[in-house]
Amino acid sequence: MKTDFWMMHRSVAHYKGGLPVGLEERLLKLYNPDQYVNLCSGSCIKGLTIDLNAECRPTIVADATRVPLKDNVADLVFIDPPYDQTYAKMLYKMKLPSTSKLLAEATRIAKAGGRIILLHFWTPKKPKGTLLEQLIAIQTGPYKKIRLLSIFRKNETLLDNPNFIRLEGFNHE
Ligand SMILES: C[S@@+](CC[C@H](N)C(=O)[O-])C[C@H]1O[C@@H](n2cnc3c(N)ncnc32)[C@H](O)[C@@H]1O
Repeated sequence: MKTDFWMMHRSVAHYKGGLPVGLEERLLKLYNPDQYVNLCSGSCIKGLTIDLNAECRPTIVADATRVPLKDNVADLVFIDPPYDQTYAKMLYKMKLPSTSKLLAEATRIAKAGGRIILLHFWTPKKPKGTLLEQLIAIQTGPYKKIRLLSIFRKNETLLDNPNFIRLEGFNHE
């Protein structure tokens, strides 16, 4: 498992709880996904954005724990949720979404080999069907809390491998 440390400038976005400047762009440059989905997108506008707050004008207004997308469609799913009950209530007037549900939903919509990236103060339990690929600590200045990007990769099964030869009459599922 790789680790890294990124010094970044804190958000200048008008939206409360915005990302450090250039964070999303840096991830997109690193992974160059064809299909990018941002869950709990807030003021972010890149890729397919999903947020419960219609005022943010996301692509889809929906609960990010129950996304109206098919399985295995995204190369990269990024999640920047409210970090605790107080943030969720004070900043967004919402209930705190369950991180494990957000991660399970992100894993469902990610393609095999695709990445699921969570920004939070802690690293979560590994979502089922993924591997923890990298942890990146994010610092935005003196006395600012360090956050972590937990980067998971959805497992590829034998069935996802184009070289896999199916045996006639055998149930590989
Ligand atoms: C930390 S902010 C995201 C900020 C965003 N990364 C930015 O740079 O603007 C968290 C977002 O989660 C949204 N949210 C909270 N609960 C949600 C849920 N269950 N489903 C979808 N969005 C949710 C809030 O509306 C808020 O926009």
